[in-house]
Amino acid sequence: MVTKDTKPVIFLFTFPLQGHLNPMFQLAKIFFNHGFSITVIHTEFNAPNFSNFPHFTFVSISDGLSEPESYPDVIEILHDLNSKCVAPFNDCLKKLLSEEPTAACVIVDALWYFTDGLTEKFSIPRIVLRTVNLSSFVAFSKFHVLREKGYLSLQESQGDSPVPELPYLKMKDLPWFQTEDPRSGDKLQRGTMKSMKSSSGIIFNAIEDLEPDQLDQSLKEFPVPLFSIGPFHRYVSASSSSLLAQDMTCLSWLDKQATNSVIYASLGSIASIDESEFLEIAWGLRNSNQPFLWVVRPGSIHGKDLIEILPKGFIESLQGRGKIVKWAPQPEVLAHRATGGFLTHCGWNSTLEAICEAIPLICKPSFGDQRVNARYISDVWKIGLHLENRIERLEVENAIRTLMTSSEGEEIRKRIMPMKETAEQCLKLGGSSFRNLENLVAYILSF
Ligand code: UDX
Repeated sequence: MVTKDTKPVIFLFTFPLQGHLNPMFQLAKIFFNHGFSITVIHTEFNAPNFSNFPHFTFVSISDGLSEPESYPDVIEILHDLNSKCVAPFNDCLKKLLSEEPTAACVIVDALWYFTDGLTEKFSIPRIVLRTVNLSSFVAFSKFHVLREKGYLSLQESQGDSPVPELPYLKMKDLPWFQTEDPRSGDKLQRGTMKSMKSSSGIIFNAIEDLEPDQLDQSLKEFPVPLFSIGPFHRYVSASSSSLLAQDMTCLSWLDKQATNSVIYASLGSIASIDESEFLEIAWGLRNSNQPFLWVVRPGSIHGKDLIEILPKGFIESLQGRGKIVKWAPQPEVLAHRATGGFLTHCGWNSTLEAICEAIPLICKPSFGDQRVNARYISDVWKIGLHLENRIERLEVENAIRTLMTSSEGEEIRKRIMPMKETAEQCLKLGGSSFRNLENLVAYILSF
């Protein structure tokens, strides 16, 4: 812990997507609790709510984007942000450094690949926050090899074949990007890899004891220090970086349900599905006869609104057994005694939040790292079931029944308990994340 009079400043540059803002703000709070002074640089697009972080200084930069409700081609938005923010960010950092010339470092999200070269330009160390876990990091780091070997084009025809370079993964699990143009995904990969390799270090919201093989491989192949210090949300109070208003009525509804009875369903902050997939999930949830809490985010069904799609009488037919909300206080929902399972898109934040509460999963991955996470959940850690084919109501119904009411579900529940314990132990004195955080703080103070 650094003392008050020496309080060094850290600049953090947040990436304006929910799954990136949450871990970055949690990280900011971790550093704040270690005695650092925090200045957050953020875009106008998806700007955070400053009033939730009274101890931080906020500086806004212009990004030239309008606020879309959905993300039809999220990769294009990432590239757009990376080109439009260069000049505003550089001007901002120059000004901040003239006011705080002794600032310790800048921490940037890995998606800000344009910040490669920043250290040479501004003589300040740059550390990268990578919001995926180590297994996905390794898969992404081999992306160019996978592309060269033609694996990415085999995803449809030979989806179940193993990937020789990535034990555990099948061709269909390889990271895939929600973009019209495959070159756009390649550009993102090249950019982030180059920028991470030239950084002063990489921070992961991950637990190295859960992925020891991947840690060894990452350490061998990556030329910079790596710090796995997750789970971030366990160091700090509940998240307040939500871009959408969280519907707190979920919690009083959960209070009325039996222990471990509710299946919570959410596909995260970006993934979207088409109308027919939506209806299959709706009927699967209903026909399972299990109580459910379902997040249907605005914009998450291609071009349609929830009320337009749900068949007449659907809600009434549930007789109070289901609740649908636009956005939930997810960490609190997962921690609630009534929640017994999670139908998820397998974003890493959601997966880690579920592991920390020992909530078994049903995987319905969409893009990027989600497919890698789903394979680890179902086949490596064996803490969930995997909806691998085009989604059908019977498959959803059966998966929910299996998870919530069968002996197979009970076995899955037993297997996730030790993972929860690992996630608790790693933060305690001598635990891996505890140690790595101490090393990270010492490293930053040594700059
Ligand atoms: C994507 C990637 O899949 C993820 O792995 C990457 O690290 C970030 O971008 P996203 O779709 O945002 O992620 O999902 P996830 O990583 O699970 O993050 C979603 C966050 O939103 C979680 O922290 C979750 O608690 C929160 N959330 C979600 C809510 O607060 N309320 C909700 O209703 C749903």
